[in-house]
Amino acid sequence: MAESEKQLFGEDPTAVRETDHYAMEYVRSFVEKWDDLIDWDSRAESEGDFFIQHLKERGAREVLDVATGTGFHSVRLLNAGFEVVSVDGSPQMLTKAFENGQKYGGHILRTCQADWRWLCRDVRGQYDAIVCLGNSFTHVFGERERRKILAEFYAALRHDGVLILDQRNYDALLEGKYSGSHDYYYCGDGVDVEPEHVDEGLARFRYDFHDGSTYYLNMFPLKKDYTRRLMSEVGFQRIETYGDFRENYREDYEPDFFIHVAEKAYQE
Ligand SMILES: C[S@@+](CC[C@H](N)C(=O)[O-])C[C@H]1O[C@@H](n2cnc3c(N)ncnc32)[C@H](O)[C@@H]1O
Repeated sequence: MAESEKQLFGEDPTAVRETDHYAMEYVRSFVEKWDDLIDWDSRAESEGDFFIQHLKERGAREVLDVATGTGFHSVRLLNAGFEVVSVDGSPQMLTKAFENGQKYGGHILRTCQADWRWLCRDVRGQYDAIVCLGNSFTHVFGERERRKILAEFYAALRHDGVLILDQRNYDALLEGKYSGSHDYYYCGDGVDVEPEHVDEGLARFRYDFHDGSTYYLNMFPLKKDYTRRLMSEVGFQRIETYGDFRENYREDYEPDFFIHVAEKAYQE
């Protein structure tokens, strides 16, 4: 494997807790495999029209997909008639997303490489909605950075805009509960996803593909109520949190993922 294709975590991978590192984690060979991990058809089936419905209910037309990845949501939203600008900090991801745009809908994606920390410097205009999906916000390690990023998202929204941001259920993970189900998000059968190390400041996940290749992602274990609090402190007025796309999940049901729908419109 060429040097540029290797993920580099150094001698102590659990010491890597920096926001900048995400760009080095999404090496080209991992990006090439990302769609095996998520399996577009199964993922579309598992989430249904959840995001499309929420956006339509709020009259959203222009959407900024800030964590485009390989383009799954950008393409779904374009196919549903939204205008989408596709942002990501990783050029490898955007290249793949561009290919997928053509492959899955004949779209020429409007892509923009930008880091969330200085989003408004690089992305002009305001949007009706921002989507930050696929457990992406977890790549941010510093609290000041999280606040800055949420403030950048807030600024890039129109006065009545909505931010939809999701995350893994780290509350459960921190309590030692992990479900490796392929029901949501990572729906592909050709890969096993396991947490290799978990503490209050790091969740390091291992992705074993059935072709024998292995990749890792180092992420910050965001607790659900902490994310909600940051959103509220940055100015979002109403935040609804869904568990695995359900509003009323049972008390005894531990969702794999949470989805926060945060509205900017001022409420007395
Ligand atoms: C876990 S992937 C999710 C991709 C896609 N949304 C999905 O669900 O398949 C996270 C994405 O967020 C991007 N990302 C992480 N931190 C970022 C940052 N600070 N600025 C811009 N993009 C970032 C990564 O490059 C990557 O494409």
